[in-house]
Amino acid sequence: MKHLILSALPTVRLIEEIQKRGDDYELINPADLYAFISSTTSGHDRIYKRGEEKSERIKSKSFDAVIPRISGAGFEHGCTIVKQLSENIGIFSTGYERGLKICSNKMLTAQVLSKAKIRNPKQILAHQPTDYKELIDLVGGLPCVAKLQRGSMGIGVMLLETELAASTSLRSFQTLGADVILQQYIESGNPKNDIRVIVIGPETKNVKIFAYKRYALDTDFRSNYSLSGLGEKVELTKEEKNMAVDAALAVGLGVSGVDIMRDALNDDKPYVIEVNGNPGLKGVETVTGENVAGAIIDYVKDNHRKSTKFNNNSIKSISLNSEEISKLSKEEYDNLDNRQKYIYEAEQVEDLL
Ligand SMILES: Nc1ncnc2c1ncn2[C@@H]1O[C@H](COP(=O)(O)OP(=O)(O)O)[C@@H](O)[C@H]1O
Ligand SMILES: [Mg+2]
Repeated sequence: MKHLILSALPTVRLIEEIQKRGDDYELINPADLYAFISSTTSGHDRIYKRGEEKSERIKSKSFDAVIPRISGAGFEHGCTIVKQLSENIGIFSTGYERGLKICSNKMLTAQVLSKAKIRNPKQILAHQPTDYKELIDLVGGLPCVAKLQRGSMGIGVMLLETELAASTSLRSFQTLGADVILQQYIESGNPKNDIRVIVIGPETKNVKIFAYKRYALDTDFRSNYSLSGLGEKVELTKEEKNMAVDAALAVGLGVSGVDIMRDALNDDKPYVIEVNGNPGLKGVETVTGENVAGAIIDYVKDNHRKSTKFNNNSIKSISLNSEEISKLSKEEYDNLDNRQKYIYEAEQVEDLL
């Protein structure tokens, strides 16, 4: 089979595991792809790859699966390309546009998780806040954490310990015109830590979980591996495993990194801090010694032809018309995406009018 890795960076471990399995691949920077929307109603949307002289068309048969590894400046465009390849052209993907976008925004993630009955720290989003005291009280008082909605590797996450620190940094956010999330501080113990859980295939019977604990440096409270490089293996409780799988399902990603914090002052009660749509492999593979990249490629190989909760390409939902939809079984109908259902239901109403 042939994999399409969408990334601006080299993805050495994934490529190694693809080659080990005798598969083909192409690594393409999404910035080099164009999404083309056709004017027909029967779905002939396309993707082109920028070429030296002429661009080259990528067809649905060109690849069996997409592995998006997108972040940073090219994220928005990368999401558009992922949507085109997976939803408009119908190629299996380890991540879909909706989930990648949810995970790129911490408040949106918290909304989705909370609606799915998954525990988040108390938090409040304020647009250029001035009433600091009330907001801080709402999330449980000081110390509390302030975060920008977007950011990773700990950038834009700060601890507010005193009223002076809180009012001055919140005033800076206001001056900069930035929205800020204020969040209940979770005391994780010493050294400060959290748990990264890589969830692969949450929508399948064969879900794989890899977890490790990450520690902060003495001088910090943020335990991102990219900041400290410190971690150790960890055993998850049943509740934490379920929480991680439920979070991955709620955002709808086949591969994700769910960050969990244990409240050391409250029987290690677990909270989901965020979900990452593009989790790094280095930390988890170094600390656990497990082959996580291999598990991702195995998930792709086992599922790219199947119809799953996230991947309904075997029903070809995009190219179905209402007559074809009316012939589907209940299970197939349930698997349609909301857009298809909406179109179908709108047509039914028209028939009645
Ligand atoms: N509510 C919180 N209480 C205590 N520590 C937190 C809290 N939220 C985040 N942290 C610490 O800060 C780190 C970075 O925060 P996070 O929300 O994951 O942002 P990023 O996307 O930058 O990784 C976390 O890994 C954790 O160590
Ligand atoms: Mg994080």
